[in-house]
Amino acid sequence: MSLNEVEKQKEYIKKVYEINKEKELKYYILTMGCSLNENDSEKISGILEEMNYKKTDNIKEANFIVFNTCCIRENAEDRLFGKLGEVKKIKKENNSIIAIGGCMMQEKHIIEKLKKSYPFVDIIFGTHTLHKLPEDVYIKLKTSKKIEDILDIDGKIYEDLPIKRADKIKAQVTIMYGCNNFCSYCIVPYVRGRERSRKPEDILKEVEQLSLQGYKEIMLLGQNVNSYHGRENYGFAELLRDINKIEGIERIRFISPHPKDFTQDVIQAIADCEKVCKCIHLPLQSGSSKILKSMNRKYTKEQFLNLANEIKEKIPNVALTTDIIVGFPGETEEDFEDTLDVVKKVGFEQVFMFIFSRRVGTVADEMNNQISEEIKHIRFNKLKELVESQIEKNNEKYVGTIQKVLVDGTSKNNEHTLSGRTDSNKVVVIEADKKYIGNIVNVKITEDCMWYLKGEI
Ligand code: 5AD
Ligand code: SF4
Repeated sequence: MSLNEVEKQKEYIKKVYEINKEKELKYYILTMGCSLNENDSEKISGILEEMNYKKTDNIKEANFIVFNTCCIRENAEDRLFGKLGEVKKIKKENNSIIAIGGCMMQEKHIIEKLKKSYPFVDIIFGTHTLHKLPEDVYIKLKTSKKIEDILDIDGKIYEDLPIKRADKIKAQVTIMYGCNNFCSYCIVPYVRGRERSRKPEDILKEVEQLSLQGYKEIMLLGQNVNSYHGRENYGFAELLRDINKIEGIERIRFISPHPKDFTQDVIQAIADCEKVCKCIHLPLQSGSSKILKSMNRKYTKEQFLNLANEIKEKIPNVALTTDIIVGFPGETEEDFEDTLDVVKKVGFEQVFMFIFSRRVGTVADEMNNQISEEIKHIRFNKLKELVESQIEKNNEKYVGTIQKVLVDGTSKNNEHTLSGRTDSNKVVVIEADKKYIGNIVNVKITEDCMWYLKGEI
């Protein structure tokens, strides 16, 4: 059934192409939020390119503007509404089509606001209707009607949509959609629906094709990758082992696992598979058992510490990274100290720190013991100080060692140097010939510079 739907959408792509084929048209896409959104944007780009739109990074010259939105924290919303002000003028000048999609479009209060204050938006699509963008664009071009294409039920999985990848060396592959966990602060389960896993054979086919195209690194994506369920007796561990066998692929990474689903078989698969990077993102969120319970995380401080120790034992030299939220409702100084304590004990390679943001519709938004902005910021800065001092110390251990670095391109700020990543995902900057781009090379680390390392081949 889903194959028919994809075929139908491909027909719409052809029809739009026929309308556009004599024209010089450009699209601009702004992606907010996580890697899953980035991967969705690659699919949107694939669809638009096949409709004869060419990519531009200059929004002012775009005939088609897409915002792929996120709603995980408040600042993403501010950013969208700020950008929409700018877009109104561009639309007047270019008669551009404005399309907004992604997580934020699954929130009723946002749709109301858009309709009321931003009536110039042409197409609104949600997380379950991305595959229907060709049809939406066709109807828009033919009728000039405004289109609101949102589904509240979980979308099916559609394979074989066009895709235009942002990179040529590293590829992102979504393995599952949605989340069943309902952490009390998180909006994701409401906007992305329940967990749906892609079939193992579809994922393996995609990775095999990527390997043939020359991709070296695969990043497996999902809101909760280690609850991947391909079929009976085929979970995340089995998937890792099968991808590990695919020739040509040299590195496998994944985000994000949930500590509660970190079963023995997954730890063992990571340890056994030589291509799986020994770098694991293990979101802690809080170090206090009381707050973890209130967050509905389903583990305690002690269980997290035990898991981290077990992973370190079974996977020598593993690098652990994490996410932490400060200022969750009811968080006392003592609770916050527990978070600092876990950070000290585990010694994370990297910590992504977030200030708790109230999300409409979540349980935590209704809690009556919210923390003041002032305290949130004080705690955030204290955590940041600890994390930075740990990273600085941790970086020292790299200096003088030889690291395998996948060179992924020239450095952001300097055309004449190359940049790449270690197995543990540290950025390394090297002065070397461009011929090394796309290869894993041995690099001697010569200097540590806080957020990156310097080295030589
Ligand atoms: N406020 C702050 N941070 C949040 N995250 C998710 N929801 C919220 C929220 N309401 C963080 C979590 C998650 C990461 C992707 O975003 O740390 O792991
Ligand atoms: Fe949100 Fe928790 Fe699901 Fe992650 S596991 S997406 S934090 S609800």
